[in-house]
Amino acid sequence: MSDGPNDGGETTRPRLFQPFSARGLTLKNRLVLPPMVHYRCAPGNTCGDFHLVHLGRYALGGFGLVFVEATAVEEIGLINEHDLGIWNDAQVESFRPLIAFMRRQDTAIGIQLAHGGRKASSQTAMRGMGPLNEDDLKAGARIWQPVGPAAEPVAKGWLTPRQLTTAECRAMVGTWAHAARNAVKAGFDAIEIHTAHGYLLASFLSPVSNTRNDEYGGDRAGRMRLPLEIVEAVRREMPASMPLFVRVSSVDGTKEGWNMDDTVVYARELKARGVDVIDCSSGGISGAATAMQVPRSLGFQVPFAERVRKEADIATVAVGIILEAEQAEDILRRGQADLIAIGRQSQFNPNIAQHWAHDLGINRRFEDWSPEFGWWLEKRIRTLDGFATPTGVVTKRV
Ligand SMILES: Cc1cc2nc3c(=O)[nH]c(=O)nc-3n(C[C@H](O)[C@H](O)[C@H](O)COP(=O)(O)O)c2cc1C
Repeated sequence: MSDGPNDGGETTRPRLFQPFSARGLTLKNRLVLPPMVHYRCAPGNTCGDFHLVHLGRYALGGFGLVFVEATAVEEIGLINEHDLGIWNDAQVESFRPLIAFMRRQDTAIGIQLAHGGRKASSQTAMRGMGPLNEDDLKAGARIWQPVGPAAEPVAKGWLTPRQLTTAECRAMVGTWAHAARNAVKAGFDAIEIHTAHGYLLASFLSPVSNTRNDEYGGDRAGRMRLPLEIVEAVRREMPASMPLFVRVSSVDGTKEGWNMDDTVVYARELKARGVDVIDCSSGGISGAATAMQVPRSLGFQVPFAERVRKEADIATVAVGIILEAEQAEDILRRGQADLIAIGRQSQFNPNIAQHWAHDLGINRRFEDWSPEFGWWLEKRIRTLDGFATPTGVVTKRV
């Protein structure tokens, strides 16, 4: 947080801090915590103290919407054994304290529903995000048989998935619908379906991984069939007032892979099925989700969000190396996206939403902070007069 020239107080409200509505949900601002796995589930792949404290920090830090990380719709869909799940009642119940806490902070909470597909049973990010190796297994890592669109591994060294039969693809729609029903039962405000990063639904979309010749493969329409049937089924489980997000890998970043033209067509189909927001990520089809298949730079995925927003006429989330308030505000000002997701910069600074409000010239007297913090910080402003700014930057040392 800096103390710029705007110290005089509120001018016109920056776009980042204007509300956003989708269906019956109104977010107090445009800042979103994207789904981020942290391998810290409680026993039984439930949500415990770690997630309450970890995600609670972003609510106290002023975010409009916080997403729970990739949460498995069935056990073999866990990307890693330490991930969250939402296929049974104990898991549903475990989310209630977190959801209640977020509601008291006026921060909306969504859940990303996920299935690891052929990347299930893989390493944590800290161990490389690749296939489990001998060391992982010696250390007690759990390994299981993943499934995918074809019996083709992600890359050399990865587990070979078992190909889902046509009947199992149809049954997979029910698996996702059941998880969506559970998410609604738990009380989430929004659902995001994970169709990115090479996990199950991304691997059905991409010609790199989907080499099937039944109704769930072949041309683009065939490859989109499973994700779209799942979207329809999930939408049916949700109240009309609850928004549905879909995360896409806008481009695979590999030759002959899924590309932006595909994404625009897909986004139009998603919109026609009641999806409200497209969360525009990229990559992950033939390696770890962090593998550099798409060159990275400041806001490198923003053009994807912009094109989907303009050509599919649907709200989008911009995500990926968005580091500063002005950068984020500019994305909204230019009409490139409707919402801004901040991942690692939020890990670095969970109060980033509050700080960015300050940077953009509002909330200079900590008005938007929870009063238990804001009251004290506001009182401190006078105390600091002459030697430090309101945020505690020392300006005079003697
Ligand atoms: C620790 C960590 C875990 C992540 N887990 C997920 C996840 O569960 N689902 C998902 O779609 N993306 C996941 N991502 C990707 C982020 O949601 C986000 O798209 C990415 O970090 C880029 O944004 P950033 O540059 O602001 O961090 C993860 C990223 C990080 C850093």
